[in-house]
Amino acid sequence: MATIVGAVTTSHVPAIGGAIARNRQQESYWKPFFDGFPPVRDWLREVRPDIAVMIYNDHGLNFFLDKMPTFAIGAAAEYHNADEGWGIPTLPPYPGDQDLSWHLIESLVSDEFDITTCQEMLVDHAFTLPLELLWPNQRPCPVRTVPVCINTVQFPLPSAARCYKLGQAIARAVESWESDARVVIIGTGGLSHQLDGERAGFINKEFDQLFMEKLIADPLWVARFSTLDLVELTGTQGIELLMWLTARGALSGQVSKVHSNYHIPISNTAAGLMLMQNSLAPA
Ligand code: DHB
Ligand code: FE
Repeated sequence: MATIVGAVTTSHVPAIGGAIARNRQQESYWKPFFDGFPPVRDWLREVRPDIAVMIYNDHGLNFFLDKMPTFAIGAAAEYHNADEGWGIPTLPPYPGDQDLSWHLIESLVSDEFDITTCQEMLVDHAFTLPLELLWPNQRPCPVRTVPVCINTVQFPLPSAARCYKLGQAIARAVESWESDARVVIIGTGGLSHQLDGERAGFINKEFDQLFMEKLIADPLWVARFSTLDLVELTGTQGIELLMWLTARGALSGQVSKVHSNYHIPISNTAAGLMLMQNSLAPA
């Protein structure tokens, strides 16, 4: 059966792509953010995942307000990036893993998650930039990918409890897939930020840090918040932290933190990074 080697959760901000393109990683504004990543890259070199299940939220590129699935899974041979307008370079297509995609879809639907299946899917900065941060300058991306997209754009959003259960169902799916593949779960979004409206620029460091602690030790504490309470605590886009909770749901048993970083702000966002591992997971 396939193995989940661990989970990486990170913020995604388009400006990161601009900083990479202009080689600004060592500038004082960016250094505390980029310096968080080498330990995670070292870990990835050690655990050698074959596939990344990418839990992220689309921002209007592949899904718009006219058709907005709550949960969608890609089942394409490759995923094209077409994220324009931020001044970030678009990147070459990402390889998919259609066998795992269809296994996930079958398993989730039989587990009562009625998801949208996408045999074509454009991916945006929430998908491409974390992969670029984790495997820099590697074209094509060295892992195959399966996109799992969660609506955080148009209300109603799935609840935190539902997202946590989705993560658990993803783990059941991966761990029942007849394959010797090694799978890393990557959750991208958050932490606190609000890009528009009266509270534009809102950041809540105290809550973010508590969230990161609780995510490891007591994820059900997070899962009990309503989406409106999370929006109040973290901002209208801070709700993207649901991706972190979903990724955490895919780890079972004794979960430990291997590495984390937190830096504010990057653009308008509190930038967090965390590497979590099931302590029973093979090294
Ligand atoms: C920013 C953050 C996001 O999560 C996003 O998707 C777009 C922009 C920002 O801080 O600029
Ligand atoms: Fe976002």
